[in-house]
Amino acid sequence: MKKITIDTIRSLKGANSAFATLTAYDFTSAKLVDQAGIPLILVGDSAAMVVYGYDTTIPVSMDEMIFLVGSVTRGAETALVVADMPFMSYQVSVENAIFNAGRFVKEANAQAVKLEGGVNSADHITGIVNAGIPVMAHIGLTPQSFHQMSGYKVQGKTKSTAEQLIEDAVAVEAAGAFSVVLEGIPSELAKIVTETVSIPTVGIGAGPYCDGQIQVFHDILGLFGTFVPKHTKQYSKLGENIVDTISQYRADVETGKFPEAKHSAHLKEEIINAIRSGS
Ligand code: KIV
Repeated sequence: MKKITIDTIRSLKGANSAFATLTAYDFTSAKLVDQAGIPLILVGDSAAMVVYGYDTTIPVSMDEMIFLVGSVTRGAETALVVADMPFMSYQVSVENAIFNAGRFVKEANAQAVKLEGGVNSADHITGIVNAGIPVMAHIGLTPQSFHQMSGYKVQGKTKSTAEQLIEDAVAVEAAGAFSVVLEGIPSELAKIVTETVSIPTVGIGAGPYCDGQIQVFHDILGLFGTFVPKHTKQYSKLGENIVDTISQYRADVETGKFPEAKHSAHLKEEIINAIRSGS
């Protein structure tokens, strides 16, 4: 199939059915997500937690993200691959934002980047887009602002914060974003935002009225045992399956059932005899 572009994603705005997107962090998972027909893969900075084991998304670095993005772009033949810009890789200045977005494209073959923030990030979005790199925006509950939000809290619950959020959505569209993630906001507000902007909205914990949805790979597959976010539906309990499978392997090794003769190469009888007799 032909590689998906940002025009394809833009064309999904207001379609009859919503589109599903997902995160991935390595070659194998990207291949699987691609095979399932997902049009957009985000190499999320959620990697900080589900890949690197940090408590929040804040510590992950550009270099830690670049390696993951490179492996995902090698695995995703069709899906558009978006690289998530880690904390402090774009906030400091527009120049710094362009430089780091460029690294994702040059060094890891990403097709687009994502960054958090609305009105406050508009100049950074415009700078990156003007450098020829598509940007996906991310507003609402923005996990990199964990401390500023005093934790992971639903955003836009009052009239004034809801209006601010609509302003943020309008600002990121005007700045040139090709789509916008709406995270952790009331579903009625997500509906208003979706009706207000002409770029696709992609929701996570933002209800059913967005143009698309995004989830974390490990969450929907039941791979991340630490906690299950409220916005997630676990479609599988792969984590439990994996532990069962590894336990079977362990038991087979311990009881001599594995490996079997077919699992290795064998010497011919005459060679064994020659070795043993020293001839
Ligand atoms: O980092 C991430 O995975 C994300 C999505 C969940 C939107 O930002």
